[in-house]
Amino acid sequence: MKSVFIFLFLHQAIILNLVISSRSEPLNSDIFRCRKDTGNFPSKGGYKQELSEALKWLDDNFKTNKFKFSYYGSSFGGLLAAATCPAYIKTEACASCMKSTFPQLVQKCPQQKQALAWTRKCMVQYAPNATELYNMNWFIAHEASENKTKEVLGLKNALAKLADNDMLVYEAAMNRDGGRYAYGTQAYGLGLVVHMVMQCAHHDRFLSGPCRTCLLLVIGEMKSCCSGAIAATVFNPRCFVRYAHTDFRTS
Ligand SMILES: *[C@@H]1O[C@H](CO)[C@@H](O)[C@H](O)[C@H]1NC(C)=O
Ligand SMILES: *[C@@H]1O[C@H](CO)[C@@H](O)[C@H](O)[C@H]1NC(C)=O
Repeated sequence: MKSVFIFLFLHQAIILNLVISSRSEPLNSDIFRCRKDTGNFPSKGGYKQELSEALKWLDDNFKTNKFKFSYYGSSFGGLLAAATCPAYIKTEACASCMKSTFPQLVQKCPQQKQALAWTRKCMVQYAPNATELYNMNWFIAHEASENKTKEVLGLKNALAKLADNDMLVYEAAMNRDGGRYAYGTQAYGLGLVVHMVMQCAHHDRFLSGPCRTCLLLVIGEMKSCCSGAIAATVFNPRCFVRYAHTDFRTS
């Protein structure tokens, strides 16, 4: 059992779909968001064609992209699309996740120019321009296991050791060749170990600044949302942090 919570700030958005799985770990929700305030596609026009072009482009790009990141910019302007997978997901699984998730997103957000889908294996999004595509203030969301650790304070301290000393944040922000990704573990209590991953959208290839800022935002949210939960993910359109008591990278 686990619960899913969504918090919105700064902008209004709608939650179209939350699928809550019954597995406790790993967290496995599919989250689809349609943003209202960046406008709608014109009711006539070729945007459906444009969206299928985007999907094809992203798919073709995945075949050669070791970063599991793919980016599409419409030659007519007005549509950017991107897909990112956690660095530990296999490239084929990543590509197939993107390929099935993109059409679902278009279906769930039939008019909105900006939309985002988050699943366990990929994140897919599109927006009218680059400023909005990775707007880390659009929303922040978390999902947390309802299963609590017996040592809440121990877990809190272990998470703080991973997230607060800036080591992992710094590693993720600077790790260009690994895809803006970092992984660490911390032991606590009697033989308990927490595994943590941090990752930024690979869009930040040349700038570590936004990645670090984004991770700090998400870590702040993690502290307020998920106290004691044995597993949690916090994400926004630009980065995510996830932890669990199993090594979810291999499952
Ligand atoms: C809660 O977590 C413990 C320790 O990881 C596990 O043994 C147990 O099966 C979990 N319970 C549920 C309901 O997921
Ligand atoms: C990006 O798109 C939004 C929403 O359509 C618009 O308000 C904003 O001015 C655009 N920004 C740029 C830099 O084009």
